Amino acid sequence: MSMFLKLGGSAALIATLLAFPAGAALAQDASGLDAITFTAPQAIGGGANYQRSCASCHGAQLEGFSAPALSGPNFSWLDRPVSEFHAYIKDMMPADAPGTLSDAQVSTIIAFIAQNNGMEAGNTALPTDPAELESMRFGQ
Ligand code: HEC
Repeated sequence: MSMFLKLGGSAALIATLLAFPAGAALAQDASGLDAITFTAPQAIGGGANYQRSCASCHGAQLEGFSAPALSGPNFSWLDRPVSEFHAYIKDMMPADAPGTLSDAQVSTIIAFIAQNNGMEAGNTALPTDPAELESMRFGQ
C-alpha cells in the first residue's frame, strides 16, 4: 500500500514537471498553477465595477441575492485557472447584459472578488490578456 502511494505521488510529480516549462516550476503549488497576482488599486477599481454591474444580483458583499454568492463555502470557482473564471464572467455576465465588459474591467472585478475571498494584493497586476491567465490559479 505505501509502495503504491509512493509511486502514485512520483507519477503525479513527473506529470506536473512535464506539463510546464522548467522556468515556471518554482512558483507553482501542488495544482501545477502559479499563484494569482493583483494590485490593491485593481481591487479598488474592481469594487466600483462590481457595485455597478454585479451587486444588484450577487449582493453588495458578494453574499448572493437573486444570484449565487461569490464568496463563502458554496463558491465553486476557487482553485481553478483564472482564465476560466475570466471567460465565464466576460461571456455570461452581467446576466442582463453579457459581453459588455472589457477584458481589463473583468480583470479588475476578479481582483476584487479575489480580495474578498482572502487572496492578498501585491505589486504585480493581474494581467488583462486572458492567455496570460491560463497558468494562474484563482485561490490563496
Ligand atoms: C441580472 C442579474 C445578474 C447580474 C447583474 C450579474 N449576475 Fe452573475 N449570475 C446571475 C445568475 C442568475 C447566475 C446563475 C447562473 C447559473 O447558475 O447558470 C449568475 C452566476 C454567476 C457566477 C457563477 C457562480 C457560481 O457559483 O457558479 C459568477 C462567477 C457570476 N455570476 C459573476 C458575475 C459578475 C462578476 C457580475 C458583474 C460583472 C455578475 N455576475 C452580474 C445573475 C447576475
